[in-house]
Amino acid sequence: MGNAPCTFQAISVAVCLLLSVGRAVPESFQVLGPTGPISATVGASVLLPCHLAPALSTQTMQVKWRRPPLNQDVHVYWPDESEMQGTGYRGRTGLLSQGLAHGNISLTIQNIRPSDNGQYMCEVVSPTDNSSALLELTVTSTGSDPILHITGYKDRGVEVTCLSAGWYPSPQVVWRNSRGEILRHTSEWNVPGNDGLFNVSSSVVVAEKSDPVVTCTIRGTFSGPERRTTIRITGLIPRRSPEIRPFLLLLPLCLFLVPLAVYLFRKRSALEEEASREREEASREREWREFLDKAYLSAAEVTLDKDTMNPFLMLSADGRSVKCGFLWQEMAKTDQIFDSLPCVLASQGFESGQHYWDVEVSQSGDWAIGVARGSMERMGALLLSPDVGVWALQYQEGNWSTLACPKTTLNLESAPRVVRVHMDCERRSLAFYNADSMAHIFTFPGCSKGRVYPFFLLQTPGTELTIQPPWRSHMGRQTRQRAQ
Ligand SMILES: *[C@@H]1O[C@H](CO)[C@@H](O)[C@H](O)[C@H]1NC(C)=O
Ligand SMILES: *[C@@H]1O[C@H](CO)[C@@H](O)[C@H](O)[C@H]1NC(C)=O
Ligand SMILES: *[C@@H]1O[C@H](CO)[C@@H](O)[C@H](O)[C@H]1NC(C)=O
Repeated sequence: MGNAPCTFQAISVAVCLLLSVGRAVPESFQVLGPTGPISATVGASVLLPCHLAPALSTQTMQVKWRRPPLNQDVHVYWPDESEMQGTGYRGRTGLLSQGLAHGNISLTIQNIRPSDNGQYMCEVVSPTDNSSALLELTVTSTGSDPILHITGYKDRGVEVTCLSAGWYPSPQVVWRNSRGEILRHTSEWNVPGNDGLFNVSSSVVVAEKSDPVVTCTIRGTFSGPERRTTIRITGLIPRRSPEIRPFLLLLPLCLFLVPLAVYLFRKRSALEEEASREREEASREREWREFLDKAYLSAAEVTLDKDTMNPFLMLSADGRSVKCGFLWQEMAKTDQIFDSLPCVLASQGFESGQHYWDVEVSQSGDWAIGVARGSMERMGALLLSPDVGVWALQYQEGNWSTLACPKTTLNLESAPRVVRVHMDCERRSLAFYNADSMAHIFTFPGCSKGRVYPFFLLQTPGTELTIQPPWRSHMGRQTRQRAQ
């Protein structure tokens, strides 16, 4: 019986041990999140902070990040160390590798999307307790610089539309004139794409006599940067001549002072003058309307034809950009190739109707753009001019001229960034405009009969010409001026 006390001792030691082990696993802990919302921008990564107090190891507990309002799991960790990412979060979430051992259960989310915006909950469940914290993630995205373009002639004014893509949440558009006064928009829409980002479009009408300078400012509802673009419309609006008004005001006074005959004579000539002015104005207006119709209905799809390209030139994958390189590229020789001149034609030829394409041009190097007769000679070093079937605008050593012999030198007010080439096959005329301001550059009145192809010449290595896709020419760029 001598070992009875011993047994009792062993039991008490065991109880002691059990109690101390019991004390090592505390009954309670708390999960703590940040006090304010966490912000993130679309495409970036974010850390959603969350930790356990006291800083216990959570390796043997279940850690769950979820979005309670959507009843959606984001990321779950189980005590067997397996993890799961929720739908929509595959490959984008992770817990900190060193974090779990110290109760740091912060979650990283990569490549933030607009849909990630909202409330999150981090939750820890142990055999003895559970606790959770809520936090708010605010996702934002600042869109592109607005593009301003003229969409038509409306109410004796010009309708200007402002477009910008890639905003979240939906932004606000404010139009102002040069004095900073707010202008009312005539239409506005705001649509989210599949990616959740908003594109915004807003239009104002700039009336004939109003301030021709308007600025479109787009601002997110968050405190991010705003985006703005300014346009000056002078010259585009047909203006009524002002001289006739003072004369009409003086007319009653004249009645007292001069004989009736003179009055009648004056009146007739004044009326005639007015009538002729009105006729002139009406015709200008008609021309303007026709011009707009033309300009907006005939944006052509133009891509470059590799089979015609000189081996010094390099074509982009989409076939819209051509660059002059330093090296002769080996390529299959075709009978359509320009074997000596650094030229390329487009795949599309035009024989009827009206067509235009916008070309983003180099501000350096020598180049020329225009049209060429499909049948033009391409072998050997020709002197390019209308005589050999090329009608083009040339930029050489900083000067603008026609590609002809002798050439016509052009004095442009400002160097175009984008040149609009407008081919009117009915009138056989080829016109060039500054696509940003729609200022006229030059017109070849009578160019080729028969099929013509957009023509490009790039003489200096490094020079690049890019044809804008028709939707882009159509939707904007013509009248874009960046605010400083
Ligand atoms: C958790 O880890 C992150 C990343 O290392 C750190 O920024 C954060 O301060 C940690 N939280 C706590 C409570 O230690
Ligand atoms: C968490 O604890 C509460 C009581 O405090 C309980 O009602 C709930 O079921 C627990 N949740 C889990 C997931 O264990
Ligand atoms: C928004 O604009 C972008 C770029 O201009 C375009 O790719 C996208 O399709 C547009 N989305 C919608 C919904 O219009």
